[in-house]
Amino acid sequence: MKILITGGCGYIGSHTCVELQNAGFDVLIADNLSNSNQVVIDRIERITGKKPEFIQSDLSDNGQCSKVFEEFQGIEGVINFAASKAVGESMEKPVMYYKNNLGIILNVIENMQKHGIKYFVQSSSCTVYGEPEALPIKETSPVKDATSPYGHTKQIAEQMLAFITASTDINAIALRYFNPIGAHASALIGELPNGVPNNLVPFITQTAAGIRKELKVFGSDYPTPDGTCIRDYIHVVDLAKAHVVALKRMVEKKNKEKLEFFNIGTGHGYSVLEVINSFEKSTGVKLNWSFAPRRAGDIIQIWADTSFAERELGWKAQEDINSMTLSAWQWQQKLDKK
Ligand code: WQD
Repeated sequence: MKILITGGCGYIGSHTCVELQNAGFDVLIADNLSNSNQVVIDRIERITGKKPEFIQSDLSDNGQCSKVFEEFQGIEGVINFAASKAVGESMEKPVMYYKNNLGIILNVIENMQKHGIKYFVQSSSCTVYGEPEALPIKETSPVKDATSPYGHTKQIAEQMLAFITASTDINAIALRYFNPIGAHASALIGELPNGVPNNLVPFITQTAAGIRKELKVFGSDYPTPDGTCIRDYIHVVDLAKAHVVALKRMVEKKNKEKLEFFNIGTGHGYSVLEVINSFEKSTGVKLNWSFAPRRAGDIIQIWADTSFAERELGWKAQEDINSMTLSAWQWQQKLDKK
């Protein structure tokens, strides 16, 4: 089966291409390379022994998007990673975020309808839950008002998919990711943050590598056991595998609704200090860090109830926090050598 992976040269997309090819799927990547690098195609080939098909395309442009579906016959499913993803940037350029993130979905879905393609997996996010009222958080927990245009596009995308799947032949699964970190064990693919990283783990690895002077831990007085925020960090390879099982569920007609939502996390929450400790323990590298004021917009704590994904998808994250931080460091070290 040929699967179109939009944004397949990106961080989560590239790891998913590897797992899909390992599971026997053919992969076509469409990526505009705005925040990724084409070298990833060769890396995927080195890992899997198979080169994915690739087209450079801006899918937010309807003409370019249609061309992908016309040029490459036989696409049977789509996994959608193509999106702008910086929360801060989305506050400054909301129109760009709505146009890009939602325009891509509409163009892709329109072409899926035209070509009779029935399966769609959407990258969604735990940000749809906002600050949880109860933990661990279940898929049935209420979706809260978004606090950024980025988060809002994830919510709107889920709502659009509900109406679209209700009135078309399209089946969809929205995977609500928690915090993906780490890199492939080969250290051939990983996260390539643009400029100064916003996210915790790339900031840690760049600080350890001497690219940044010091990690600032945002907030020391949160109502958590050690005063720092808690997240459910998930290994990107585990996350990638969740896409394969989600796709198979629809192909094998095991989905119970036209649109389903799954939490994709480990079910364990780690504080910022626990992540730092794990990094130091797994790598043997001492990290330079200090406390700084709270970061605006941070939720205090969230981790997933993964029982629905375990039961329905038969999927469970395998990697622990130490293997996540170690693989992130191994990837950083490979990057530094180049
Ligand atoms: C994690 C923790 C920070 C940097 C992001 C996206 C969000 C969603 C999930 C997809 C927080 C702390 C961070 C630093 C720090 N993804 N931190 N110093 O905010 O949970 O969410 O991933 O949709 O949209 O924004 O992840 O890695 O930025 O932060 O202390 O330099 O690390 O305060 O507690 P976050 P993060």
